[in-house]
This record gives sequence, structure tokens and C-alpha cells, in this order.
Amino acid sequence: MEDPQLEVLLPKKRIQERVGELAKEISDYYLFSREPVVAVCVLKGAFVFFADLFRKLQFQPEIDFVRLASYGEKTYRDDQVYYAKDLEVSIQSKQVLIIEDIVDTGNTIDFLIRQLWDHDPKSVKVCSLLHKKERKEIGVSVDFCGFYLEEGFVVGYGLDCAEKYRHLEDICILSQ
Ligand code: IMP
Ligand code: MG
Repeated sequence: MEDPQLEVLLPKKRIQERVGELAKEISDYYLFSREPVVAVCVLKGAFVFFADLFRKLQFQPEIDFVRLASYGEKTYRDDQVYYAKDLEVSIQSKQVLIIEDIVDTGNTIDFLIRQLWDHDPKSVKVCSLLHKKERKEIGVSVDFCGFYLEEGFVVGYGLDCAEKYRHLEDICILSQ
């Protein structure tokens, strides 16, 4: 890695293996269900994970995208969650699977879950590639989790810091 601020935490091979395992877990859960499934990608950070996971599923959910923002150009927590892009498809009576990049304090995902329940879905489940368990402030449950992390700010595989590093294939720790 050329940038001295970055240290590889999860190499791309490990990420791809785990995404395959998650796709299998999720497929086993939904494959024989009666109600349709809508996979909701949380922009922007989850877009790389979503594209990889979606192509490995053994069923074809409808897809939609929401955009939430909870961090600005800094890496400390900002309580305010912005709902910048709403759903476009109906989720009424459908099974919703949220695909998120990382759950940190839980504020963002808690906000989204509450918004989605207002649309009268059959169920709402959460799949997050990363979960910073130690910093959890709100008791949200992640139903399908890729990796648990200790504290630290991570970038790559879609995750950014001030819009940088999304293109990295590995997930790296960014030292301040
Ligand atoms: P929460 O609301 O504290 O759970 O934060 C969740 C959101 O903050 C995620 O969807 C990310 O967009 C962002 N975030 C939290 N931790 C990190 C990180 O380590 N790297 C990049 N983005 C992060
Ligand atoms: Mg996110």
C-alpha cells in the first residue's frame, strides 16, 4: 500500500470469501419464502458490497436504493442523520433486507428501520458488512453480519473518508 496512513485490515480475498458465505446464509433464509424480497442498498458506502452480494444470491430480490448521510468530512460521530433519497418501489407487505456497509453507533440504521416500518413491510432485516460492536449506542440487531470490528476508522471497498478511498479493494484502517 503506497499511502502510509493506510493499513490493510481485511484483504480482498477474505472479503470475497465472507461475502460468498453471507450470500449463502441470506439465500437459505429467503429462498423458499412466499412474500417478495426487496434488497435496499444504503448509499453511498454499501454500493460495492451490494453489487458483489447481489450477484451471489441464489434468488433475485427486487432492488432499491436509499441515501443517508451521518458523517461529514470528519471521522467523529455526528448525531444527525439525513434522509437524502427515499425509496422508489413499494415495500408494502414485502420482506425488506437492508444492505449497509457499517453499523457504528447504530443511529443511522435505527433511523432507517423506523422509516421503513412506516411503509408497512412484512419484515425488515439488516445485513451489514461491518459492525463496530464496542461503539454500539442503540440496540439495533444486525441479522447478517460480515465482520465485527474494534474501534478505528476503516476505508475501502466502498467506504470513504471525505469521499476518498472508496476504490480500494481491501478494507484498511485509516490512521489519523
Ligand atoms: P452510525 O450511525 O454511527 O451507526 O454510523 C453509520 C454510518 O457512518 C455508516 O453507514 C458509514 O457511512 C459511517 N461510518 C461509520 N464508521 C465508519 C468507518 O469506520 N468508515 C467509514 N464510514 C463509517
Ligand atoms: Mg453507510
